[in-house]
Amino acid sequence: MTTKTITPEIELALWSAAEAAAALAYAPYSDFHVGAALLTSEGEIVSGCNVENASYGLTTCAERTAVLRAVAQGKLSKGVSIEAIAVVHRDHQSCAPCGACRQVLSEFGLNAIVLYEVEGQRKQTTVSALLPESFQL
Ligand code: THU
Repeated sequence: MTTKTITPEIELALWSAAEAAAALAYAPYSDFHVGAALLTSEGEIVSGCNVENASYGLTTCAERTAVLRAVAQGKLSKGVSIEAIAVVHRDHQSCAPCGACRQVLSEFGLNAIVLYEVEGQRKQTTVSALLPESFQL
């Protein structure tokens, strides 16, 4: 397996798109506003935000919104993978992808780069590092 890299320009574009998405989050219950932006192997950037619901369990995280949007827009499919994803809280609170999102990301990008923030520090890792021995069919 090769270690992927992304250019500083792409990284900046992903952070910017994720921040713009975080500003659109619908989070009236937690007030925790998250944005995500993914880059596909076809060079498309697709963003998403968290969408909460009064029935809390129906909430969709920003990362999964981005993945579902990308699939629905025909930008992510069998044979197209996620190269990288940035995840950010609107006010830069710590926000590493949750377990459910790690599993969903693994479907399209086990080797994808994941950019996120912890305690004000930007971090870079991969989906496979965040989800070792992930379930695959
Ligand atoms: N959230 C995300 O959007 N992404 C994550 O990886 C962690 C959690 C959202 C879900 C919920 O709307 C809010 O943050 C608080 O859990």
